[in-house]
Amino acid sequence: MAETDPMPVVRAVPALRETVSGWKRRGFTVGFVPTMGALHQGHLGLVHDAGLRADRVVASVFVNPAQFAAHEDLGTYPRREAEDAAQLRGAGCHLLFAPAVEEMYPPGSTTTISPGGPAEGLEGDFRPQMFAGVALVVAKLLNQVQPDVAVFGEKDWQQLMVVRRLVRDLDIPTEIVGSPTKRDGHGLALSSRNAYLSEAELEIARRLNGVLAGAGAAIGSGRPAEVVECDAREALLKAGFSQVDYVAIRRADDLTSFAGGMVDGPARILAAAWLGRTRLIDNMAVDAPT
Ligand code: PAF
Repeated sequence: MAETDPMPVVRAVPALRETVSGWKRRGFTVGFVPTMGALHQGHLGLVHDAGLRADRVVASVFVNPAQFAAHEDLGTYPRREAEDAAQLRGAGCHLLFAPAVEEMYPPGSTTTISPGGPAEGLEGDFRPQMFAGVALVVAKLLNQVQPDVAVFGEKDWQQLMVVRRLVRDLDIPTEIVGSPTKRDGHGLALSSRNAYLSEAELEIARRLNGVLAGAGAAIGSGRPAEVVECDAREALLKAGFSQVDYVAIRRADDLTSFAGGMVDGPARILAAAWLGRTRLIDNMAVDAPT
């Protein structure tokens, strides 16, 4: 691979390994940002963060079929590799790994991963196949790239906790770093799925973070979690969300509930709600009452 190419696009695992091991022989550390493409400023922030922690940055673009249920948006998930590659190049990424489905899952691939703990409940209740698919593809990508550090967005907080548990349980020698959620000027968490929203839906979507912040403040003033969750759910429906899958206040690390609903340690409020056919998620830190 010509080292003069500022960001080669690599599709095969052996070529990826050759480049990465060449970097390691030269003493470079390697950072990794896994993505499903349709990149936005949030992803580029992850690349930036990886660049602060490692000498070379690999990003992957792979729309992972294993994490979509049959009725979900695998077929319509936005795919725009050329634009993604241009953005990654501009963000200082050193290699784009963009494998085909057959490269990641060759015929005869049968091994699965069944993540427990933080994968249970919340997204796990509404998208039961998702974290098994995420755990499998992340384990494979970390084995393929063998990075020193991998950066994941805090927007998918539950995913970040699942990945932290995965690398711990499987002894994968990569440091997992969470990068704070990037938001638009109205506080809406940046997401590839925001592209599905109409102008009117966008207006409503922008209220999600305010409702969560208000709920967090209510927890800080000592209201019990169940009451705050219920009020926030009502507030989302009133704001115009068509359906609320959950609003939940959980322990920040293992995502278990607080006994008796009283928040007594690091906490996170997490929500998933629908606008028409688009499902949005968001979360933020919650301070325990003082
Ligand atoms: O967060 C995502 O985009 C995906 O779940 C990930 C981590 C790239 C795995 O496919």
